[in-house]
Amino acid sequence: MFNLAITTIWDVRDFTSNLIEYPYLSDIIETYKQGGLVALPTETVYGLGADATNDDAVKRIYEAKGRPSDNPLIVHIYDTKQLEDFVESISEATERLMEAFWPGPITFILPLKEGVLCDRVTGGLNSVAVRMPSHPVARALLKEVDLPIAAPSANLSGRPSPTTFEHVFHDLDGRIDGIIQSTQSDAGLESTVLDCTSFPFRIARPGTITRSMLNEILPNGIDALVETSTDKPIAPGMKYKHYAPETPLKIFERLEGPIETTDEKDWSKKAFLLPASLLPFIPKQAQTIVLSTSETDIQQANHNLYAALHELDQLEDIEQAFIYGYPNMEEAEALHNRMEKAANHVYVKEEW
Ligand code: TXA
Ligand code: MG
Repeated sequence: MFNLAITTIWDVRDFTSNLIEYPYLSDIIETYKQGGLVALPTETVYGLGADATNDDAVKRIYEAKGRPSDNPLIVHIYDTKQLEDFVESISEATERLMEAFWPGPITFILPLKEGVLCDRVTGGLNSVAVRMPSHPVARALLKEVDLPIAAPSANLSGRPSPTTFEHVFHDLDGRIDGIIQSTQSDAGLESTVLDCTSFPFRIARPGTITRSMLNEILPNGIDALVETSTDKPIAPGMKYKHYAPETPLKIFERLEGPIETTDEKDWSKKAFLLPASLLPFIPKQAQTIVLSTSETDIQQANHNLYAALHELDQLEDIEQAFIYGYPNMEEAEALHNRMEKAANHVYVKEEW
């Protein structure tokens, strides 16, 4: 039905607030309805969307990404009324969190009601992950198509998540039916995933909505532990290698003065991903990519992290890259989680 070699690009950058007038809206909707794969912008990262009730369409998501079949997908909705179709029950505590944070960058794992979503979406689990994105384009599309849309991040499995159209194009051109071109994703890191199938709720993947923010709505309702690195994590995706750039990456934690350059090192083959405030300490010959203005601007670093990892792989002749490990504050938990995976948990010791 689809010509896989050709990926249509729909540029909606001028229509972000009023997609309804967009001339090609019906083409996009029709592509989803016929089981096509269309990448769409969201406020966290770009997603690779398909009809979550269509088994062939969902199968093609796994093929296009090269994703292991035991790693279930997040289902995207525009209205909580859609949950009646495929969620068994929603507790009052979960409802309170939905009211506080939806639409927005948080995914709730809920008990699955069988029969509507295809089995592949949930990877055979008896729960389903659901998110209501706030991005105006995503919202308009989800409303018009009026289907639950399964959407993992629109990258090849194991690669950094895409926060711009170019990132999606780089990984998936020729493998999917269409890409909706919008602006750079705001948040820049994937949603917080919260397991609401047992109480207290557990964070399965940290995101920009933190445990303190959740606890403010639901005092004592959130387990203290963020379970991300065990062999059998709540979110199966957390056990896989993730977010890795092709260039070897190490994390450095402190820099209180200029790096000494008296040795024989060829600094032109090294790159630094860091806040602008640390630029004066970096050897002149090294390449640099700025993540934020200051060492404490976590939101900016979140927003820029994946774009910086993509940019790193475009630099020529870099043999080793270093990324600044921002201060260990709660706000930076998601940033640390993604950085540690990108750097394979390797830190700079004494030697650069
Ligand atoms: O921000 C986001 O969440 C983005 C945008 C596109 O919405 N999506 C995203 O999807 O990050 P993905 O597929 O890259 O990550 C989904 C994560 C995986 O770690 C997966 O294992 C977990 O959610 N997950 C999905 N369904 C689950 C379930 N029923 N139980 C536990 N974990 C689940
Ligand atoms: Mg992903």
